[in-house]
Amino acid sequence: MTHPKKKLIAGNWKMNGSLAANAALVAALRESVGTPSCDVAVCVPAPYLAQVQGLVDGSPLALGAQDVSAHAQGAYTGEQSAAMLKDFGVRYAIVGHSERRQYHGESDDTVAAKAAAALAAGITPIVCVGETLSEREAGHTQEVVRRQLAAVIHANGHCISEIVVAYEPVWAIGTGKTATPEQAQAVHAVLRTQLHHAAGDLAGRIRILYGGSMNAANAASLLAQADIDGGLIGGASLKAPDFLQIIAAAR
Ligand code: PGA
Repeated sequence: MTHPKKKLIAGNWKMNGSLAANAALVAALRESVGTPSCDVAVCVPAPYLAQVQGLVDGSPLALGAQDVSAHAQGAYTGEQSAAMLKDFGVRYAIVGHSERRQYHGESDDTVAAKAAAALAAGITPIVCVGETLSEREAGHTQEVVRRQLAAVIHANGHCISEIVVAYEPVWAIGTGKTATPEQAQAVHAVLRTQLHHAAGDLAGRIRILYGGSMNAANAASLLAQADIDGGLIGGASLKAPDFLQIIAAAR
């Protein structure tokens, strides 16, 4: 059984922005976003959490972080705990983005621990999974995404229905090469089945986002797929008109 749920459109600003650019971008979003029929979030660089918390106050835009420590506190130079993020009104934290897995060596177990830390603080983790081009070409897509999600399911037990999943094929991120709606839907269906085995009927309420070169032109056809419940948007989330068009396509 599926439950009615709002789609979620989350912008991942990555390592972009400045005080001035953030203010202009959020002002442009606020001016035109109206009352969206989907949930909307912006996941911003950590130094700007306080600024953007103020900028989105009283708007439909929720605040997100791009990472969270697996640890609660202590000698972890450079990391931010979930409680610290919560202090700034953070509602969502991306975990296991492929850039973190690739450049910072994050393992499936680390990602699972980060998701658990977020959940324990009342922050919704946006858990990213996705295969590389060589994994896809070798026919390993399903095996890879199932392994990545299994670690998170294993570490989070009955809380699993509180997560958001983002399927982001690595070959589609920042490349302009989007998965076709059918390619994306096929993987989303695999993830949904896996979630169903873990969470039963509650799996229907877990949002599975697509990410990877989603833009104003292709969003509607991706979002029309049965198991695509929103988007995690990189490049196009930095341009207010494009991000607004994607939000408008999510109903
Ligand atoms: P992109 O990035 O939209 O620029 O491809 C998506 C992501 O990495 O989350």
